[in-house]
Amino acid sequence: MKILVTGGTGYIGSHTVVELQKKGFEVVIVDNLSNSSIDVLDCISKITGEKPLFEKFDLTDSERTAEFFKLHNDINAIIHFAAYKAVGESVEFPLKYYRNNLVSLFNILQGMIDNEISDLVFSSSCTVYGQPEVLPVSENSPILKAASPYGNTKQISEEIITDTAKSANIRSILLRYFNPIGAHESALIGELPIGVPGNLIPYMTQTAIGKRDFLRVWGSDYDTPDGTAIRDYIHVVDLAKAHVIAVERMASRKSDKQVEAFNLGTGNGFSVMEVIHSFEHSTGVKLKYKIMNRRPGDIVKVWADTSFANTELGWKAEKTLDEMTLSAWKWEKALAEKK
Ligand code: NAD
Ligand code: WQD
Repeated sequence: MKILVTGGTGYIGSHTVVELQKKGFEVVIVDNLSNSSIDVLDCISKITGEKPLFEKFDLTDSERTAEFFKLHNDINAIIHFAAYKAVGESVEFPLKYYRNNLVSLFNILQGMIDNEISDLVFSSSCTVYGQPEVLPVSENSPILKAASPYGNTKQISEEIITDTAKSANIRSILLRYFNPIGAHESALIGELPIGVPGNLIPYMTQTAIGKRDFLRVWGSDYDTPDGTAIRDYIHVVDLAKAHVIAVERMASRKSDKQVEAFNLGTGNGFSVMEVIHSFEHSTGVKLKYKIMNRRPGDIVKVWADTSFANTELGWKAEKTLDEMTLSAWKWEKALAEKK
């Protein structure tokens, strides 16, 4: 089977390409390299022994996307990662986010209809739940009003896919990721944050390596056991494996539902302080940090009810928090050695 992976040189996409190739799928990546590097292709082939096909263009370009589908007329399924993902930037530049994340989805869906490709795996996010009233949060929990334009693009995308699936021969699995962290065990691929990282783990590893003075812990007065906010962190390789299962599920027509949503997390919540302690424990490196005020817009706590993914997909996240923080640290050190 040939799989189109959009955003395949990015963080989650590159790890998914590796898992797809390991399972014998042929992969073609489309990426405009707006948030990733062409070098990732060589790194993937160092891991798997196989360089994926690659086309560099912007998926918001409808003509170029249509041409691509004409050229690659043997694609069996699509995993659509390509999107902008910085929450804060989306508040500052909402149109940039709505245009990129939605127009690229329109072009993908149009390409699927025109070329009779029926199966789509879509990268959604736990951000669609906002601050849930009941924890752990299940797929049936209410979708709350999005807190950012970025989050809204995920909610709207889910609706566009659901509506399109009702009128065309399209099936989709919406994967709602919790907090993906860590890197491939080879330390050849990982997350490449551009500029000052907003997310916890890259800021933490950059602090430990000396690029940042100290980690700012956003708030210690939350209603949680140690006062810091709680998230469900999931290793990116565990997450990548779920995409392969999703593709196989659709190919084998295991479910008769046109659209299904799955939570992808470990089902365990960890506080910021617990992540710091895990990092120190797994790496042996002491971390400088300071408690700051809360970060505006942050939710207090969220973790996933993963039972639907566990039973229906037969998938379960395996890696521990210590494995996640250690792999992130190995990746940060590998990046430092490259420079
Ligand atoms: P990433 O930025 O590392 O990867 C996205 C890739 O898409 C990049 O390589 C970028 O160059 C490419 N891209 C963006 N717009 C494009 C366009 N118009 N045309 C072609 N290529 C384009 O991000 P990631 O962390 O790997 O995230 C992948 C997906 O998962 C995104 O849809 C993101 O919203 C979603 N997601 C990410 C997280 C997270 O914390 N990383 C959590 C939930 C959901
Ligand atoms: C995690 C925790 C921070 C940085 C975001 C998006 C979400 C999803 C995943 C895409 C929070 C704290 C962080 C720092 C800190 N992405 N923190 N110091 O905010 O849970 O989720 O990424 O869909 O949509 O909103 O992730 O890594 O930014 O924060 O104390 O320097 O770490 O306050 O409690 P978040 P994060």
